[in-house]
Amino acid sequence: MELSTASIVFWSCFFSAALLLFLRLIKFTKGSTKSTPPGPQGWPIFGNIFDLGTLPHQTLYRLRPQHGPVLWLQLGAINTMVVQSAKAAAELFKNHDLSFSDRNVPFTLTAHNYDQGSMALGKYGPYWRMIRKVCASELLVNKRINEMGSLRRKCVDDMIRWIEEDAAKSGAEGRAGEVELPHFLFCMAFNLIGNITLSRDVVDIKSKDGHEFFQAMNGVVEWAGRPNIADFFPLLKRLDPLGMMRNMVRDMGQALNLIARFVKERDEERQSGMVREKRDFLDVLLECRDDEKEGPHEMSDNKVKIIVLEMFFAGSDTTSSTLEWAMTELLRRPESMRKAQEELDRVVGPHGKVEESDIDQLLYLQAVVKETLRLHPPIPLLLPRNALQDTNFMGYFVPKNTQVFVNAWAIGRDPDAWKEPLSFKPDRFLGSNLDYKGQNFEFIPFGSGRRICIGISLANKLLPLALASLLHCFDWELGGGVTPETIDMNERVGMAVRKLIPLKPIPKRRTV
Ligand code: HEM
Repeated sequence: MELSTASIVFWSCFFSAALLLFLRLIKFTKGSTKSTPPGPQGWPIFGNIFDLGTLPHQTLYRLRPQHGPVLWLQLGAINTMVVQSAKAAAELFKNHDLSFSDRNVPFTLTAHNYDQGSMALGKYGPYWRMIRKVCASELLVNKRINEMGSLRRKCVDDMIRWIEEDAAKSGAEGRAGEVELPHFLFCMAFNLIGNITLSRDVVDIKSKDGHEFFQAMNGVVEWAGRPNIADFFPLLKRLDPLGMMRNMVRDMGQALNLIARFVKERDEERQSGMVREKRDFLDVLLECRDDEKEGPHEMSDNKVKIIVLEMFFAGSDTTSSTLEWAMTELLRRPESMRKAQEELDRVVGPHGKVEESDIDQLLYLQAVVKETLRLHPPIPLLLPRNALQDTNFMGYFVPKNTQVFVNAWAIGRDPDAWKEPLSFKPDRFLGSNLDYKGQNFEFIPFGSGRRICIGISLANKLLPLALASLLHCFDWELGGGVTPETIDMNERVGMAVRKLIPLKPIPKRRTV
């Protein structure tokens, strides 16, 4: 008898769900009396998969009034807990961080053994500890971050030039026209990561160079971000019914091959005895590869390529989407835009150039960045954690291997933690010590605990510098008949959450 793909899918789902029920029954008969957190009733076999919709962070936030701040979902065969309040997040990160320090890995990100080399998806263990320490010395240590100031300046200057040239091209009769702002923000962030890791611009805005890398990366982002039935029913992994794994293998392979070229060039340089003026991140990884040949710390060629790739993923979409949301919120509120520009004129002078040393005095601008991250955390559910062991969390039983989402998007709107949580009000941060370094649990766009974002110091420098430069160099207007009241604020989920309709404002040069 020949089985159709549909029946194979059905029976695999059925057996996964039956296995899960069986395991739960064993747990129950072993005498566990505590229950899992409350949650919406699911469908047989599929559980709550279909309830999540295209913007899961928003759907989950809407479930809070009915089910409370700690929610339980059955996503096919996968147990899932969702934490949605500042209080519950504090409990998780202060008292149970270790239990939830592991990651849950989407199936497509096992392509080319990505998960084995990745820091962001790495199992909590010796390799993750080693690579996190290495990256921290490059990305978290203030001395290194400060040394990279000239790279940030260069990439932001390039972006301002691209925007000006594009506005001149798209305008008429000497007037500036609309620019596709998110494209330039992304290229700036992408090239910054290129300069930090490989000492080169990876994208040349005027040529096709770097286009191949860009395309392959977009493919990887696409397959990593789409929901995959094989993640909910592990028995389906071998079948790959949606073909997502095949596509991921192709696109990630292409991206890794391109990085392999850079690595090969660098290896040749090193072998020829050439000494670079400044050691970059690739040098650090290659030294690590050459020192650690075997054992749990082993740093293979494949792992070097994966970490380089990961820096591009982790650093480009997050920072550029934050800047797009900041500009969107300011265009919606001209009085906030004016306040930020007046502050810049006062601190930098109307004809001066913003420098990183000015940022400490730009208190309103910093508040705008914070308020943007409160309402628009680019990774709204953080990166999914995984329970390393059975855990008693706030009186609930959370079995080992439960996937854990921390809904930073909902927490930033937690009515118990914020006044007027839905309004964009940068002033709320003025005169307050509240920051996003992982200790204020009502505000965790970078996560918290052992797995907190490693790029936080870099983002902390780049976001204000880029935003300040955009606001100081240009006056911005909305184009295409859009008004502050009618700007579309809908979201779409990719690697980071972006505006569904890309922002296309008109920049008019202010400073010389
Ligand atoms: C606006 C900018 C950024 C935001 C909002 C952001 C947010 C996040 C979040 C929410 C996590 C997961 C934290 C958790 O699970 O608790 C994370 C992890 C991570 N981020 Fe970022 N990120 C940003 C920029 C960057 C940059 C610039 C880099 C590097 C160049 C970076 C590299 C990483 C890495 C490697 C991890 C994984 C850490 C681990 O699992 O140990 N991020 N980030």
